[in-house]
Amino acid sequence: MVASFGAARVLVASNRGPVSYDVGEDGSLRARRGGGGLVSGLSAIGPEAGALWVCSALSDGDREAVRRGAGEDGVRMLDIPADVHADAYNGIANSVLWFVHHMLYQTPLEPVFDAEFRRQWASYETYNRAFAEALAEEAAQGAAVLVQDYHLTLVPGMLRELRPDLRIGHFSHTPWAPPEYFAMLPDDIARQVLRGMLGADRLGFLTRRWADAFTACCERFAGGLGDTRIGVHGLGADADFLRARSHEADVDERMAALREEIGEGRRTIVRVDRTELSKNIVRGLLAYRQLLDDRPEWRERVVHVAFAYPSRQDLAVYRDYTAEVQRLAEDINERYGTPGWRPVVLHVKDDFARSLAAYRLADVALVNPIRDGMNLVAKEVPVVSDTGCALVLSREAGAHEELGEDAITVNPYDVVETSRALHEALTMSPADRTDRTKRLAASATALPPARWFLDQLEALREGTPSR
Ligand code: F6P
Repeated sequence: MVASFGAARVLVASNRGPVSYDVGEDGSLRARRGGGGLVSGLSAIGPEAGALWVCSALSDGDREAVRRGAGEDGVRMLDIPADVHADAYNGIANSVLWFVHHMLYQTPLEPVFDAEFRRQWASYETYNRAFAEALAEEAAQGAAVLVQDYHLTLVPGMLRELRPDLRIGHFSHTPWAPPEYFAMLPDDIARQVLRGMLGADRLGFLTRRWADAFTACCERFAGGLGDTRIGVHGLGADADFLRARSHEADVDERMAALREEIGEGRRTIVRVDRTELSKNIVRGLLAYRQLLDDRPEWRERVVHVAFAYPSRQDLAVYRDYTAEVQRLAEDINERYGTPGWRPVVLHVKDDFARSLAAYRLADVALVNPIRDGMNLVAKEVPVVSDTGCALVLSREAGAHEELGEDAITVNPYDVVETSRALHEALTMSPADRTDRTKRLAASATALPPARWFLDQLEALREGTPSR
């Protein structure tokens, strides 16, 4: 038990924080701010609420900011040793827990839980403990703590031991694995993850499906949920922000440039993703190639605009995947392209204004993940689209629970079905497309980010303390 309590009354903990730093050539620090649901939520509760965001220093610039004591008000960055962070983030969170929840393993050869895994797991424990200790130090008596994601599954249990007075919530932004797949983890590790999570008063998930999978894992491996409550909060798109931001001048400029690349009078199939294994970009390209094979009438008349932004490039499997996306796009362009038509316009450099420009121009949005916690692109495109847009949506995306009725549903592994869905989307009547887009936009914005966050906070505070 810590002797003195801190001052923060609402605390958020996540691996990636709301701000990151670069060191300029002159040695000065440059801060860059991110967006997202948590940022909106914390701004909605106002500065007087005593909020603190605890996150990890990720870059050299972040570490330098911590050393210089240059951090922003309301943010505490933890300077966890780089090797410990790398083992926890790359080794365990992104190579094991992410793979388990998204069911990404090629099981004949992986995973292998060997001595190296055990060594990395010890770093994951150290990293989670650093968060738990910082939160215990900063939280006021009875404060609410909202822990985020698979990086920090052990924090609720550790924090509960340090500070039994706190209200502890945890939110998963990913799917949760079904028990048969979760069972791949070594038994003691599976139990440790679940017990860590069950240290929380309340656990939040993006859909009922992921919440049910978690409950089923607890029943099978941890003797049930105990006193922990479960809630579902389907994060929606931020309509006000998106509509305003997508009409700023830089977006108009990007639209003009994209129109040049696409060419006059052509239809567009748009996708925007991190270059992420679970997003299924390669099968998306294969489906597009199939469309050009099966329906030659689309040649010269359609362009696949694919933005695949760099992600997790420390992992070889992500670098290989990025290379495969580029190789396949080039292959399609070489095979079908003509002097006046590039069938795939692929961009790999992150540019938010250009993403919004593509959303506005899209005739069809392709969102075909193998498995996805929610997928906000599926929710954002209908909100931003200028003239209405048909949505081809994987049944394995969390967003499908809310958008499925007005989307064209696909099995993400079936590229023939996906190519037919693309054809159906391209030929949808304008009236149908407009009606569906309106309904999609309404469902997509039903729970705006600030409300999503406040609902969780209220539910956490309202519940009877479980201990
Ligand atoms: O979807 C889960 C998630 O951790 C998000 O919270 C985050 O935006 C995304 O994956 C990107 O992950 P990373 O922080 O590894 O770039």
